Amino acid sequence: MFFQLSEEHQAVRQAARDFAQQELLPGVIERDTTMKFPKEQVRKMGEMGFMGMMVSPEYGGGGMDTISYVLAMEEISKIDNSCSVIMSVNNSLVCWGLEKMGTEEQRKKYLPKLTSGEWIGAFCLSEPEAGSDATKQKTLAIDKGDHYVLNGTKNWITNGGSSSVHLVMAQTDPELGPKGICTFIVETSWPGVVIGAKEDKLGIRSSDTHTILYNDVIVPKENLLGPAGDGFKFAMRTLMGGRIGIASQALGIASGALDLATHYAKERKTFGKAIIEHQAIGFKLADMATEVEAARLMVHRAAYLKDQNLDFGVAASMAKLFASDVAMRQTVEAVQIHGGYGFVKEYHVERLMRDAKITQIYEGTSEVQRMVISRAILQGQLYQPMWK
Ligand code: CAA
Repeated sequence: MFFQLSEEHQAVRQAARDFAQQELLPGVIERDTTMKFPKEQVRKMGEMGFMGMMVSPEYGGGGMDTISYVLAMEEISKIDNSCSVIMSVNNSLVCWGLEKMGTEEQRKKYLPKLTSGEWIGAFCLSEPEAGSDATKQKTLAIDKGDHYVLNGTKNWITNGGSSSVHLVMAQTDPELGPKGICTFIVETSWPGVVIGAKEDKLGIRSSDTHTILYNDVIVPKENLLGPAGDGFKFAMRTLMGGRIGIASQALGIASGALDLATHYAKERKTFGKAIIEHQAIGFKLADMATEVEAARLMVHRAAYLKDQNLDFGVAASMAKLFASDVAMRQTVEAVQIHGGYGFVKEYHVERLMRDAKITQIYEGTSEVQRMVISRAILQGQLYQPMWK
């Protein structure tokens, strides 16, 4: 077991940290307040290689491992979680799915645009009646010989209004249930793709979340992604990796809140000393630091297992479940340590607190993660039982 980061990993972390401080921190409060999409920032993330970190260089990607990706995600999430969710969906859902399941033509056509940041991708699984219960897809794709006709509504779509390409899960034969679901690559410029209402959200406010409608969209047969009928399994496999991305976002929120609270506690004086020297605050910070470290180990382990091509699904669910709870707890504590200052925008912790909540919801709620973990326990996949 080796707990030290390589020099390359440290360099990636430093590059992401510098980028977040220099390019994302300026204007982050205003973008959050006005819900302004970070177009310029995303373009720069593309230039820096953050939009397709794990994609092979052959398709314009960084050819990096998942550890590099989670290190970059943590640093960017300390400052701007709208940017980090855009990055996460593009990297671990859209680019990963296209590279793993796409044909050579599909990879060549879409990945260079997505890795460079010229195009942004969206992952369209959730529907009004298919959230956690994701097999209940109502979006329908009818096979018409050389093309499919797509009709349906997706909601909660991250990058919904800013994306140029969608990976859309749709039912092709309701009688087959989950085995009738397929994945399609849909360009948003095609006739019939309608970008619906933009959500006004509690957190990650400058990322754009939309309802999307597909009205008789003609999808050429060559835009079927992966084998017909494999769409649900594709979504589940892709989301396993996505959950590592969201876990690293949650970790970044928690460690960012710890950073801010520590800085403030050293500066702020009450009763004749810095508040960090009061046991009430010092112990709070000690608990926060311990939980952040535990979350980091879980996130890095899930990333490591994925890089080693080992089973990582349960580790990813555990990392997301734990890190998102840590993010929620630590941001509340960070606001408390800041007192009244924590309640105003200028000190950044209230934004992190609002951003933390979504990490317990998207890419599988905490309850869904517990379903995945408890099923693995039931099936004896996790531990060698002592009592038989
Ligand atoms: N890999 C491969 N196959 C898998 C799989 C996985 N990880 N998980 C399940 N499957 C397969 C099963 O083996 C089964 O196949 P067979 O019938 O051949 O055996 C099939 O898929 C159905 O599986 P289940 O019976 O386990 O399905 P279920 O209905 O009980 O649901 C669930 C399981 C874990 C709850 C799943 O529905 C789920 O993960 N729901 C949450 C969906 C989600 O995360 N949505 C996030 C939206 S995307 C988003 O948030 C992105 C964003 O914008 C930020």
